[in-house]
Amino acid sequence: MTTITCIEDLRRLAEKRVPRMFYDYADSGSWTESTYRANETDFQSIRLRQRVAVNMENRSLRTSMAGQAVAMPVALAPTGLTGMQHADGEILAARAAEAFGIPFTLSTMSICSIEDVAAHTRAPFWFQVYMMRDRDFIERLIERARAANCSALMLTLDLQILGQRHKDIKNGLSAPPRPTLANLINLATKPRWCLGMLRTRRHGFGNIVGHAKGVGDLSSLASWTAEQFDPALSWADVEWLKQRWGGTLILKGVMDAEDARLAADSGADALVVSNHGGRQLDGAPSSIQALPAIVEAVGERIEVWMDGGIRSGQDVLKAVALGAKGTLIGRPFLYGLGALGEAGVTKCLDIIARELDLTMAFCGHTDIRQVDRGILIRC
Ligand code: FNR
Repeated sequence: MTTITCIEDLRRLAEKRVPRMFYDYADSGSWTESTYRANETDFQSIRLRQRVAVNMENRSLRTSMAGQAVAMPVALAPTGLTGMQHADGEILAARAAEAFGIPFTLSTMSICSIEDVAAHTRAPFWFQVYMMRDRDFIERLIERARAANCSALMLTLDLQILGQRHKDIKNGLSAPPRPTLANLINLATKPRWCLGMLRTRRHGFGNIVGHAKGVGDLSSLASWTAEQFDPALSWADVEWLKQRWGGTLILKGVMDAEDARLAADSGADALVVSNHGGRQLDGAPSSIQALPAIVEAVGERIEVWMDGGIRSGQDVLKAVALGAKGTLIGRPFLYGLGALGEAGVTKCLDIIARELDLTMAFCGHTDIRQVDRGILIRC
């Protein structure tokens, strides 16, 4: 553990330990992956303004996201199949987030169910939904999230149809993996992962199998997903969901200033500037590039957060400086999980917090809530 100093170290270790199809599922984008790459590289073109002879004592990263106190302006993003990066992955990530004092978001497409995560955590977590044609199923999901004491609902708007990810098709992605010769050969090189999977009971889509009509086993799940995600989603559906849920609502996947205004009109509590980590519209701008125009378009009418490409605390600081009140991280915590389980997610959060804290100090600030564009030099 002592040799792990950055997120890239966790990524390398995860690449060794996680079966190829699930590692690739995390570490890929759609089509040419140009947006996936830009999410990371566009952070590099933003330079920081170093200040000296400024009192750097007593620093604080504490702030709030949608009214919830957070230890730093970072939450764990919803990610499907997290329980395939590591056995019981969603439970382990939720526990690490809880101990750190930041929110965990459970994806509808998770392996561990809402009830599984609730049974193993004390802090309320957030739940992410996609709009599906079967509104009864959505209502039941919402009720389950309510019963589990989830403190916010996150509606993902950018996946009504699926962006093509070449690697998943080539790998024949499925959960659990099919016992093909190629898979068995690859699994034979991942003994830790296999042992974890033998120990746990959780191998399928915990929120769906046994809960949605017509999904009895995993062979019917792929076609069910293709049939269920609603390509006709509209702002009226957002309103419907808001009414049904009645609590904190976060809209994820906004990349356009006009859509951001509509999101603010909807009365949601926060929006996430996100291109789904470069997994949907390849060719879209990076999230950090899209952020400033959206902040300008909505002002204080709705909290603006962003995700995509954050690989360090420096990236979090740059997003905050450009007006994000919070950020989400996806792959960084998945790499930590695949590398070292719960301890790896904690390591990921420690790395990001430390980088954020030190960078903020170098830029002459001691309170994350005071950081603004003044710390940036645009190249
Ligand atoms: C995702 N993302 C995602 N988003 C969502 O709303 N529901 C989901 O089920 C998933 N599933 C998912 C799986 C995997 C493996 C990844 C990498 C991402 C998108 C995710 O919430 C977030 O927007 C991105 O991960 C942010 O980009 P970074 O931090 O991974 O670069």
